[in-house]
Amino acid sequence: MCSIIGYKGQLNVASVLVDSLKRMEYRGYDSVGIATINNGKILVKKDVGRVADVNKSLDLGRMPGHTGIGHTRWATHGGVTDKNAHPHYGCTDRIAIVHNGIIENYRELREELIFLGHIFISDTDSEVIAHLLERYYAEQKNIKKTIIQTCRRLKGTYAFVAAFEDGTICGSRYDEPLIIGSVNNGYFISSDVLGFLEYTDKAVFLENRDIVIVDSETCHIFDLEGNIVNRPITKVAWELAAIDKGKYAHHTLKEIHEQPKIVEKTGTQNLKIQEFCNILTNSKTVLLTGSGTSYHSALIAKHILSKFAKIRAEAIMSSEFQYTFDAIDNTSVLIAISQSGETADVLQSVKAAKQMGARILSIVNNPTSSLARISDSSLSIDCGPEIGVAATKSFTAQLSLIYTIVDRLCKGCLDFEANKASLVDALRQVLDTEIQIHSIAEGLRDARDIYIIGRSIHYAIALEGALKIKELAYIHTEGIAAGELKHGPLALIDRNSYVLLVNPNDIASEDNISSAYEIKARGATIIGISDRPNNVYDIFIKIPSVKSTFYPIIEVLPFQILAYYLALAKNADPDYPRNLAKSVTVK
Ligand code: M6R
Repeated sequence: MCSIIGYKGQLNVASVLVDSLKRMEYRGYDSVGIATINNGKILVKKDVGRVADVNKSLDLGRMPGHTGIGHTRWATHGGVTDKNAHPHYGCTDRIAIVHNGIIENYRELREELIFLGHIFISDTDSEVIAHLLERYYAEQKNIKKTIIQTCRRLKGTYAFVAAFEDGTICGSRYDEPLIIGSVNNGYFISSDVLGFLEYTDKAVFLENRDIVIVDSETCHIFDLEGNIVNRPITKVAWELAAIDKGKYAHHTLKEIHEQPKIVEKTGTQNLKIQEFCNILTNSKTVLLTGSGTSYHSALIAKHILSKFAKIRAEAIMSSEFQYTFDAIDNTSVLIAISQSGETADVLQSVKAAKQMGARILSIVNNPTSSLARISDSSLSIDCGPEIGVAATKSFTAQLSLIYTIVDRLCKGCLDFEANKASLVDALRQVLDTEIQIHSIAEGLRDARDIYIIGRSIHYAIALEGALKIKELAYIHTEGIAAGELKHGPLALIDRNSYVLLVNPNDIASEDNISSAYEIKARGATIIGISDRPNNVYDIFIKIPSVKSTFYPIIEVLPFQILAYYLALAKNADPDYPRNLAKSVTVK
């Protein structure tokens, strides 16, 4: 959830680190800090706030030296304060560290170190790493032995980079990503390829418990026994230009507008899609998993797999997977869906299923992510980096790929390819409702509760729409299966309620209209999202008619746009919602 970066080379390190942190800020953005090594001294500057602001107030980018480490934080242990911001020193300023993950045994390590005389400054779990390194380094003055001993003591998940006063930087990982970027006369160690992609596309992905040491001239990778290990260099094909906001005010708005183009280009990985389908058809049990938005994609996948490919599947939230599923063996397949491919809950589910013998298929946006690398087969949604914390274009890209897979499985029964042009056109038409939705958002800005209702496959869109509004506009919003209203939620409805109805023209439409009348009778304002108007709607957002199976792909857009403008109406930053991070790499 935090971003970490280390650099040793010939460039002025501080400005390099500031730029890297800006590019990785989506991972966590409550505080920021940098340590540079200059003339044998480590200097740390850090504070609460976003990279640009802290850089301005502390002049981070002008810190001296050619070696250093940096961090943006998403708080887990200890409040959002400058003392909890990284980098952390040990007792002296000779070693500093930045860390991402959770050190589960930090309390006992801290007690042990305090007993030995160490003094802790922060409330974080991370600070124990600095003190452990300091302790073992004092004993033997050997960085390799020091880091090995330190890593042996850590329980939990971690990726960390440490800076030593002699100018060495080193790091290690366990269940959190850490990647080396190799440049002319230097190296990066980063939690994300975006940290160094401006300088190199040559990346080395460290395995769990690998240790990397970059000293004056070399970069070596060791295992926990101290043996040198070789890891392959991967060429990363990530379009950096796509990180710009372009003409848009926010990444989120830009990403919403990219959706027609993304749907247009889905399905180019022909051979891989076939491999995916072969594994699926040869399995007895099909499970799907994902978190947040990706879980909503899993719900839609489950629906269309069963309806069109006649494959019964179960969709389980990744955070619930470990408590739910035992009936897995080598006849099972688990499809894991994750934009980042780094979500801890998803990775944990996948590892558990893999241990029980299941084959793993994944749908990711990052083909070099941890999830892609542990899968038997992985497909990329290929929608370019999604920077806005809210998933928008990655959702439609996931759906688009899922429809392509199901179409292949049912031998073209969906005619997805033939319908693509009209779908793309429909997406563009929905984007044209932006001005209308902007003014609806102004009217809803003071809403206390919003309900989104839908039936059948549209229930998943009601859940997704609600997630977007909660996340971006901080308004309590619930997605409800329309048929369930009378079993309880109707008690909540009164004249102050706003209800959005996902109601395109399909078999569920008439039942939805009946539900809408029941709601209207309780005085609520009804906003219909449909291709057909109806008197029951107080406000009508028109979406174009498409082949009914494909409505989920277009009907989610009005919710994304609404959530975006609600965020603006409430003075919230739509790209960086409070308390959240893009890549949730902790459990
Ligand atoms: O990277 P992933 O798809 O695995 O992320 C899963 C969720 O954390 C993510 O979809 C989250 O719910 C989004 N912020 C929702 O907009």
